[in-house]
Amino acid sequence: MTTLPNLNRPLELKKRAIVIGASSGIGAALAQKLAATGYVVALLARREEELTAVCDHINATYPGMAHPYVHNVTDFAAVLFNPVAQSKFVHTVSAGYVTGAMFVLSISAYYLLKGRNLQFAKRSLTVAASFGLASALSVVVLGDESGYTASENQQMKVAAIEAEWHTVPAPAAFTLFGLPSMEERETQAAIRIPWALGLIATRSLDEQVPGIHDLVEQNKQRIRNGIEAHAALAAVRADRTNPEKQQAFLARRDDLGFGLLTLKYVDDPAKADESVIDKAAWSTVPNVPVLFFSFRVMVALGFFFIALFAWAFFLASKRKLENPRFLRIALWSLPLPWIAAELGWIVAEYGRQPWAIDGVLPTFLGVSSTSSAQVTGSLIGFVALYTTLAVFDVFLMRRMVKTGPEGLKLWPLPDAQQAHETQASAKENGHV
Ligand code: HEM
Repeated sequence: MTTLPNLNRPLELKKRAIVIGASSGIGAALAQKLAATGYVVALLARREEELTAVCDHINATYPGMAHPYVHNVTDFAAVLFNPVAQSKFVHTVSAGYVTGAMFVLSISAYYLLKGRNLQFAKRSLTVAASFGLASALSVVVLGDESGYTASENQQMKVAAIEAEWHTVPAPAAFTLFGLPSMEERETQAAIRIPWALGLIATRSLDEQVPGIHDLVEQNKQRIRNGIEAHAALAAVRADRTNPEKQQAFLARRDDLGFGLLTLKYVDDPAKADESVIDKAAWSTVPNVPVLFFSFRVMVALGFFFIALFAWAFFLASKRKLENPRFLRIALWSLPLPWIAAELGWIVAEYGRQPWAIDGVLPTFLGVSSTSSAQVTGSLIGFVALYTTLAVFDVFLMRRMVKTGPEGLKLWPLPDAQQAHETQASAKENGHV
């Protein structure tokens, strides 16, 4: 899908940036700005001619600062059928459907509790129940698939989600509840379900799920390799035509990102001693308690949604939707899918720290030409803007719900249709 970067190009470790989509527009402008601020920029884009022109333009003012890398997707099917993307995409889309279905369910429940728009509310609640049940089932099945693919590709994330500090003999138990501690590197008061994690994560009874301590040990070795890769890269830069030096770098380049983790503690990876390597290796463990609890609440909500929609489906099929306890629970469940989705996002994004690109680019080395004051300013601006929009949104939605379909002149239906509705409803209630 990509070509190897040309090793004969200069690569500053402290001040470099990669700009994707740099052949025009914002990408080109950003590359220009970064070069002006002293960054060596690697420009990535599909269109060779435009990219070269942008590089030439930057290099004319800031010689040697811009380097083009033409990248293109050569196998679109590989992108489309990528198993990670598939499970994540469908899990997220289904989560959106659950959110929509819950909204309809809750507002319909509100009308039924208030005794308003009864036919309208029953009908929409029935549709929400069946659509919501299918979506909630899909979220859980695809969530399980997401966990499985993550266990293959992001072992540290899965170990952190499970607070699995030590590798245990297969099949590993699933920790239903516990109190993981980053300081003690242990989980207190754990309640475990035997075999469950092994089955979920590996789909087998004899494959091990690696624990955090073992993964940290593996990462220490990768950091040592990465430090060598970093030195090998410097040697290539000093003697760019030497194939042996290139070979020495290529043999270790997959671990270069791990070597870069030491830059958080020393200004040159070559200066990293064992204590730095130890710290860098433990920095590859995301915050275990945050992941542990976020994941469990998301999963618990997933099962709650199945139960709630199944209950709604059952009541709708029995034509007994005026059940006050069900209606109250349905109404107050309105915000829960949003909470589950936010927690899912925390699991996915916070759980992949410290990497911006897994195993390649540590997040703290991701650069931007904006100052921290600008970032704080724009963050405050965004929070203020979106909070204001959220307040208006909730206000408008509340007003719309209170006005209801009759206030909006959408209900009752025109006479002919209304007669048909009344007849159908009478039939339903056994009056005909
Ligand atoms: C049994 C239930 C569930 C399981 C096993 C599950 C599993 C997962 C896993 C493993 C991830 C992380 C994927 C990754 O990092 O690659 C994830 C992310 C996510 N989950 Fe769930 N989940 C469940 C229920 C839910 C529910 C009920 C919702 C919302 C209604 C939800 C919304 C999300 C979202 C929005 C993400 C972020 C996706 C992304 O950014 O890629 N999940 N889920």
